[in-house]
Amino acid sequence: MASEIHRASTTAPVNIAVIKYWGKRDPKLNLPTNSSLSVTLSQSDLRTHTTASCSPTYTHDELILNGSSQDVSGARTQACFRELRTLRKQLETTNPSLPALSSMPLKIVSENNFPTAAGLASSAAGFAALVRSIANLYELPASPTELSRIARQGSGSACRSLFGGYVGWEQGSQPDGSDSLAFEVAPASHWPTMRAVILVVSAAKKGVSSTTGMQTTVATSSLFPVRANDTVPRRMAEMQTAIQERDFESFAKLTMMDSNSFHATCLDTWPPIFYLNDVSRAAIKAVEAINHAAGKIVAAYTFDAGPNAVVYFEEENEGIVAGALRKLVGEKEGWKGEAKSDDAVVEKVV
Ligand code: PMV
Repeated sequence: MASEIHRASTTAPVNIAVIKYWGKRDPKLNLPTNSSLSVTLSQSDLRTHTTASCSPTYTHDELILNGSSQDVSGARTQACFRELRTLRKQLETTNPSLPALSSMPLKIVSENNFPTAAGLASSAAGFAALVRSIANLYELPASPTELSRIARQGSGSACRSLFGGYVGWEQGSQPDGSDSLAFEVAPASHWPTMRAVILVVSAAKKGVSSTTGMQTTVATSSLFPVRANDTVPRRMAEMQTAIQERDFESFAKLTMMDSNSFHATCLDTWPPIFYLNDVSRAAIKAVEAINHAAGKIVAAYTFDAGPNAVVYFEEENEGIVAGALRKLVGEKEGWKGEAKSDDAVVEKVV
């Protein structure tokens, strides 16, 4: 039927790195200079919902994000479309009775259930959902690992949002990126008491995009080679052990030290890059005060390429951690919780 429309929907959650990806050895394929590790937040909290459809009646590829049409001509979106179409074409070649979806224009409709401009890893959830929705539409027998290779080309960190729980991204060494893939470190159920609270700075937008920032850091920072070649490989191994052993103090210390190391290389970039602001530093001080009062490490902050804080803690400490941070949110100008409900700043990691 000429008017046929094929459709599939999916959701993908945001992930927040505890060992950061910062630096590309190949900007076109988004191949990183170091491995990284993240925690995927709950599907019910920050996520992108995407419906992919294709039809012979469509005239061109289209992407609509939160109701507004986006440019699909960029190399990253094009790379994802091309890779997925190639895989579908292979299926159609081996099974000629399948409809020729690979030659139909695509329409992708995406909605974020969180503010896109707030610098909350929206591109990670966005590209992961885009890739998985098209893979579902095309009925590709592809594993999350295989799809991570494609999502990585949309946005590096997106490859980690194809898994739940604790997720690594192996930097790989092949020039074509075939071994630069995401892998599961542990499912969310491995550590059911893990929680994260997100402190959103009002109207926060990235001053320097992650792509531009990474390239400038790689080119100019003298701290960067030590981070990429020595610090991160060691911490990747230590972090995986901490997760396997559900050792929160080690997990937390590594998380905070890695965030500080990443932001130190940003400051060491020329011209310098500042993602943290005074309110971010107030959050660091608040976490230090919480840990000092508890007599042990019960909370860990981390910051991506923006001023928003993500603080990890265990459920049993929710009262002291989230309570103290809510007080900070209430007192400090510049902080706001997510507007969903009173409790919305607390994200359950499942
Ligand atoms: O995937 P990108 O290009 O948005 O870069 C993400 C970089 C960080 O969020 C700062 C770190 C990370 O590993 O997610």
